[in-house]
Amino acid sequence: MDITIITKLQEIVGTSFVFTDIDVLQKYGHDETEDYVYPPHVVVKPITPQEIAGIMKLANEYKIPVVPIGGQTGLSGGALAINGGIGLSMERFNRILAIDEMNLQVITEPAVITQVLKEKVAEQGLFYPVDPSSMGSCFIGGNIAENSGGARAVKYGVTKDYVLNLEVVLPNGEIIWTGANTLKNSTGYNLTQLMVGSEGTLAIITKIVLKLLPLNQHNILLLVPFFKAEQACEAVSAIFRAGITPSALEFMERDAIDWSLQHVDGISVEVKPEHKAHLLIEVDGNYQEILMQEAEKILEVVEQFDIDDVLFADSIDQKNALWKMRRGVAEAVKANSVYKEEDTVVPRYELPKLLKGIKEIGTKYGFKSVCYGHAGDGNLHVNIIKGNMSDDCWRNEIPKGIREIFELTVQLKGTLSGEHGIGLVQKSYMDIAFNSTQLNLLKGIKELFDPNNILNPGKILPDNI
Ligand code: LAC
Ligand code: ZN
Repeated sequence: MDITIITKLQEIVGTSFVFTDIDVLQKYGHDETEDYVYPPHVVVKPITPQEIAGIMKLANEYKIPVVPIGGQTGLSGGALAINGGIGLSMERFNRILAIDEMNLQVITEPAVITQVLKEKVAEQGLFYPVDPSSMGSCFIGGNIAENSGGARAVKYGVTKDYVLNLEVVLPNGEIIWTGANTLKNSTGYNLTQLMVGSEGTLAIITKIVLKLLPLNQHNILLLVPFFKAEQACEAVSAIFRAGITPSALEFMERDAIDWSLQHVDGISVEVKPEHKAHLLIEVDGNYQEILMQEAEKILEVVEQFDIDDVLFADSIDQKNALWKMRRGVAEAVKANSVYKEEDTVVPRYELPKLLKGIKEIGTKYGFKSVCYGHAGDGNLHVNIIKGNMSDDCWRNEIPKGIREIFELTVQLKGTLSGEHGIGLVQKSYMDIAFNSTQLNLLKGIKELFDPNNILNPGKILPDNI
């Protein structure tokens, strides 16, 4: 990168926070998406919105791409610097600014690790429910950028349901608040929610106001083995129709649980060869007696299907172990093979049809898939395993199979991504979910915010619109 630009960046953030060493560029060149690495030309680590404003003005003047980088745990390539340019690491924005116990809100900077935020508010008896599997290392700002979900979304909603107000730096360097610190807001277009899920393409988030809930006291966790995977999917909507809203309802296909058990230490769960899938089901609340009744009702529902003995987690350690196993699936798959992960979502009752269809498409294209995810939300993560497949087939045939999977989700009234975002790796499938009128509206929004296409270019929108 031109030395003039480097010098100007050093003037803005200080010489110690501008990096051009190849090792640093490599380190910031990836997230958790497959095996992609796209190093930026320079990494900068600002600490104030004003510094970011200066960087954006400079980038606009010289037409340099800027890619916001958070905890680097993304699964759609949102933080990859595909055109090089400036990697804007947000890591120094790592303070929780205030916990407002009176209004049940927290004001935070974006680089606070989600789990740290959850623990800090829990110390005050407050609950931030959103729990992506990467919560031990992802940043809350990245969760907003991708509108992350997680296991508790089925009862508590996803990130968007907690974001009240945001301070952002616009691509032209202006700093604004998007809304108000209120639970309700009907004041014009909803700029706050426009930012949520915009994958770092419209503005850079510098302060966040989140809604919190009171922390509840109890939960019950069950692991239910099914002899038929499609029946596990059928049981999901039956549980809701019986009047229960679990706080988590997770599906794991046989290989998902097996691979995770091999990969994660300190967990023993007996998985028999005949078990084809499991549901991990949690109910939570303030009254143990009510939860017991809800658990019994869930048992009545699942017993109508072909299941084996249900495991009741009877200690905190066992609950933690089961969650560790569930959260370890993605990493276990990654450790097992080159893979592609698709984040399909359909209305909940359509889940059995989705699973069946994915397996049929797998047979047609000759790929193995490992499916797991947030079944209560109809959100199925489909891991397509490369295994011994030839590189040629992987590159040229598998995208056709993925296209068929997305066509199926859309036929079932679903869409491409429930919680991982579109980023880089799903953008070429966007035409399945949106026609040209819809895509042009999205493009128009991007151009309004970022006419020079400086901020995280080449994400979300397909190349050919
Ligand atoms: C999960 C991540 C991959 O559900 O979304 O584990
Ligand atoms: Zn997930």
